[in-house]
Amino acid sequence: MGDPRADQVAGAEDQLDPALLPGDAEVEASLRPRTLSEFVGQVRVREQLELVLSAAKLRSAVPDHILLAGPPGLGKTSLAMIIAAELGAAIRLTSGPALERAGDLAAMLSNLVEGDVLFIDEIHRIARPAEEMLYLAMEDFRVDVMVGKGPGATSIPLDIAPFTLVGATTRSGQLTSPLRDRFGFTAHMEFYTPEELLRVISRSAGILGMGLPKDAAAEIAKRSRGTPRIANRLLRRVRDFAQVRADGVADLAVARAALKVYDVDELGLDRLDRAVLTALCQSFGGGPVGLTTLAVAVGEEPTTVEEVCEPFLVRLGMLARTPRGRIATPLAWSHLGLEQRPGTAFTGTLFDEDA
Ligand SMILES: Nc1ncnc2c1ncn2[C@@H]1O[C@H](COP(=O)(O)OP(=O)(O)O)[C@@H](O)[C@H]1O
Ligand SMILES: [Mg+2]
Repeated sequence: MGDPRADQVAGAEDQLDPALLPGDAEVEASLRPRTLSEFVGQVRVREQLELVLSAAKLRSAVPDHILLAGPPGLGKTSLAMIIAAELGAAIRLTSGPALERAGDLAAMLSNLVEGDVLFIDEIHRIARPAEEMLYLAMEDFRVDVMVGKGPGATSIPLDIAPFTLVGATTRSGQLTSPLRDRFGFTAHMEFYTPEELLRVISRSAGILGMGLPKDAAAEIAKRSRGTPRIANRLLRRVRDFAQVRADGVADLAVARAALKVYDVDELGLDRLDRAVLTALCQSFGGGPVGLTTLAVAVGEEPTTVEEVCEPFLVRLGMLARTPRGRIATPLAWSHLGLEQRPGTAFTGTLFDEDA
């Protein structure tokens, strides 16, 4: 299944999409942290990784294969590059969807030099034959190359140089267990606190040569959904606004005005998030209502509502998914400034006994 937003261009509503948007890649490259010490937050993951990498260096061996799991925009690609840099190794980049044929993977594997880091992004989307080839490569540093076709085909085993596979996935639940089991270490990335995002934003503002007072940075941090990619993107929108409308001065008032233009509210909700909550509260009395009905009410694809809006609304505690449908919590009503209607109230039970 494709990304439901893949064919859209970056508009105002997309500023809060944690996925990579057109135009992001170049700026992100310049803002990417280069070393573990520059990498803000993820304290637990950083400590674990430091141990894995230091131990491997002590033993002069390649480290175990590493899986980086977590939502988009939290720093998986950045960490993969940092891992290679910390090891003083070269990194080869590919992705699950690019490895359609096992031959593509075999070519990459056989070109590896000892100690290289092979980064496979979106590894949960790797095609089956390539995945099976990966098992042997990860375990024994070997590939079986098929020569010929049909009954006369033979497989020739080929040694490959010891390497470290770094896989990244936004859906670790979709990995098959044989693949998951072959990683020696899984880093579970977590959403960032506003304080951590404040540090990300201040650092980025410095790199962009932008004067940004702490209160303005904190304001952006608060609205960035715990996601550095979104924080950096909102920072760039504030910079645009400051340059065009405020003589290049980005202070708290300018940051607030800029975020208002892009429809990002104090909690980081955008227009679609609010439309979903408003429909839920006003048209359906707070629910429960089915996902499809809710999506039709806001004129969006169900997958967009489910994958883009809901995770954040659930995390904020504004929306609950129950067996009977979606429900608005009291927090949703109060955030919208609506009076919760009696009799339609969310009772606090997430699971309906009769369902
Ligand atoms: N821990 C961090 N510290 C500083 N910046 C970060 C951090 N994590 C992510 N970023 C910023 O967010 C952007 C997106 O990160 P990326 O590694 O591409 O995320 P992912 O691969 O998980 O989608 C990077 O370009 C980087 O500027
Ligand atoms: Mg990435």
